[in-house]
Amino acid sequence: MNICVIGTGYVGLVTGVVFSDLGNEVICVDKNEEKIALLRAGVMPIYEPGLEEMVARNADEGRLNFTTDLESAVRKSDVVFIAVGTPPKEDGETDLSQVESAARGIAGAMDRYKVVVNKSTVPVGTGDFVRNIIETNRRRNVDFDVVSNPEFLREGSAISDTLQPDRIVIGAPNQIVAMKILELYAPLERPMIITDVASAEMIKYASNAFLATKISFANAIANICESAGADVVQVVKGMGLDQRIGAAFLSAGIGYGGSCFPKDTRSLLHTAQKYGYPFPLLSAAIETNDQQPRRFIGKMEQALGGFEGKKVAVLGLAFKANTDDIREAKSLDVITALLSGGAQVTTYDPIAMENMKQVFPQIGYAKNAFEAAEGADAVVVVTEWNEFKQINLDRLKQTMSGNIVFDGRNLYDPAKMRRLGFDYICVGRGEAGCEPTVPGTVRTTVKGTPA
Ligand SMILES: NC(=O)c1ccc[n+]([C@@H]2O[C@H](COP(=O)([O-])OP(=O)(O)OC[C@H]3O[C@@H](n4cnc5c(N)ncnc54)[C@H](O)[C@@H]3O)[C@@H](O)[C@H]2O)c1
Repeated sequence: MNICVIGTGYVGLVTGVVFSDLGNEVICVDKNEEKIALLRAGVMPIYEPGLEEMVARNADEGRLNFTTDLESAVRKSDVVFIAVGTPPKEDGETDLSQVESAARGIAGAMDRYKVVVNKSTVPVGTGDFVRNIIETNRRRNVDFDVVSNPEFLREGSAISDTLQPDRIVIGAPNQIVAMKILELYAPLERPMIITDVASAEMIKYASNAFLATKISFANAIANICESAGADVVQVVKGMGLDQRIGAAFLSAGIGYGGSCFPKDTRSLLHTAQKYGYPFPLLSAAIETNDQQPRRFIGKMEQALGGFEGKKVAVLGLAFKANTDDIREAKSLDVITALLSGGAQVTTYDPIAMENMKQVFPQIGYAKNAFEAAEGADAVVVVTEWNEFKQINLDRLKQTMSGNIVFDGRNLYDPAKMRRLGFDYICVGRGEAGCEPTVPGTVRTTVKGTPA
């Protein structure tokens, strides 16, 4: 099939390369000339495991092309995917200007029947919005259909998520159009949900809001554990083994970030309110997430006796491991607080430092975690990168001048940290600091953790 993908970001690029890998002719379009030039030169604008090789292979075989010329790309295609950004406005409402501009572009280029597929995360009703724009702006009276096909890939595992999604959601106005999109995905042999456009749009928001709520629930439990002498790591392990609950998205920490959960939860809340439902449950999940970094930073300030003149190493900048994306990353809150309190900050992240340099050119960027920690009063772990999980803690301690480790991801065993001489401050592990043994657990006190 001839496919065009408008918007060559995380979603558009991965969607485009996977469809081309399945044998389709794909043109990826972006308005960002620099991005297209990079891609044509074989340089990936984002970090994603396996992406570069797959792009190179399909580009070499001529099935995958990159352009800024939307009009000719749309003309050559039977199916046009919209995968542009849908950032939030100040009040949480989704800004659909990029979707609108893509739809106008499609309208201007349409010369024969096309299926226009919305892959961007868009509020319920956007399918009609896109249909209206194309209908009123098309130059020729050619027919088209609008489908919703929300994306569920996760940054860091985007290729494998796209090849093996839990489900593929196709919201179509009729069965014939649904079958056309189903045919595209058929080689993946994954479960498919065929539904109407509005329900497909809602599935995406409901899923993300549910996962965000699950994280906020774990964080709320963590906050009680902290005072009650329980260890949230053990608590969520005990909860997650219940098949009705599941362990995914049930870890306590410094809060969720990234380009999706914060904006999608606010957008769904906005939609709910528009329809007269205040959605108190989702409001509370958002509020809990807003408070979580503030709580953590408060603990940092308390343990350090203020930030003025302190040397602090921040380990991990990306909003989660295996991505270079720093959008709404909790590292931004931590670094902002440290700098405004007068601390000297040095950071290390395996791949997100280049992005962070655009935001904070004034802080230090180290070659590795030990260099970042050199002479530091405290180390803050913000991202759960594998290389931090089994870091040589003895060496870390010797490198630092202080002994405080703030762990926003609960990566370490509190009892072990105490034995090593750290003042270890994590999330929701109160007085319990459990050291797992066989067959039971030993309860110890985590020195320095405020009740
Ligand atoms: N990133 C994720 O993990 C993820 C996962 C699922 C869904 N989504 C959703 O997918 C959509 C895209 O997200 P993303 O992270 O890929 O965004 P992104 O910002 O990485 O990429 C969007 C791209 O669209 C381009 N663009 C915007 N308007 C354009 C136009 N009119 N013509 C051509 N190009 C245009 C931009 O230049 C940019 O390169 C969003 O709605 C997002 O919520 C993202």
